[in-house]
Amino acid sequence: MKPIRKAVFPVAGLGTRFLPATKAMPKEMLPIVDKPLIQYAVEEAVAAGITDLIFITGRNKRAIEDHFDRQPELESELIAKEKADMLALVRHVIPSHVNCIYIRQGSPLGLGHAVLCAEPAVGNEPFVVILADDLIDAETAVTRQLVDAAHSNNGSIVAVQTVAAQDTDKYGIISGTAVNSSTTRVESIVEKPSPETAPSLNAVVGRYVLEPEIFACLRQTQPGKGGEIQLTDGIALLMQQKPVFGHTYEGLRYDCGSKEGFFQATVAYGKKYHGFE
Ligand code: G1P
Repeated sequence: MKPIRKAVFPVAGLGTRFLPATKAMPKEMLPIVDKPLIQYAVEEAVAAGITDLIFITGRNKRAIEDHFDRQPELESELIAKEKADMLALVRHVIPSHVNCIYIRQGSPLGLGHAVLCAEPAVGNEPFVVILADDLIDAETAVTRQLVDAAHSNNGSIVAVQTVAAQDTDKYGIISGTAVNSSTTRVESIVEKPSPETAPSLNAVVGRYVLEPEIFACLRQTQPGKGGEIQLTDGIALLMQQKPVFGHTYEGLRYDCGSKEGFFQATVAYGKKYHGFE
């Protein structure tokens, strides 16, 4: 498999679950303590050797572009006040060798459609998809774990975690044959099945390594669950021509798309990284 250099961040979602906080602010800019969710996601990508960040944005998402840009007025202010630590934080939101590319998703047609919007920037190479809502605390960045698994299995990879039976309808669910203790060759993948119809309790978490053939599959994908073009359905087509694996990662995931998960992440990160009790 070719080197994996590009990461796609679908950030066009409306964030209705966090209204009114997200009325004028992207949900990806909500902070866990002092860092926006999208910055955790970007740091994870950079830790996996990614050099090109492709954001699929929508209306109301200007704050994300501003966050990853320079802020000359703020920098001069911090220089004048001799606040070197703060200056470093503001300047090094991303390392200088990393590029940001922004693509607008005109209509909210689904996660699969958002990923398809990245095709002109990704081209013919494997890439990573990171959903910033899923914040994963891990010793080795989960994206790094997935990139390594993609190379060693020579195929696309979805991150997998076991969920409770009553929660299968919140996730893509996979089933397949175990390759080793952490990896499964996916034989079926279905978007948000009811507990009665779910093929297993192995749920897809918001991290993917995908081969570029996914784009042709997504072009053929018809609207599915919720009337949206689902990435899960595109992956189901990809599996017909290329191997796809589920990888059980090491790390603790917080579902920051829900208020409860967001609260738990705030408490855990406050304690662990900031020493708050
Ligand atoms: C999306 C995907 C789903 C996946 C989930 C992981 O759903 O469609 O397959 O399991 O992310 O967080 P969403 O949470 O955007 O509804």
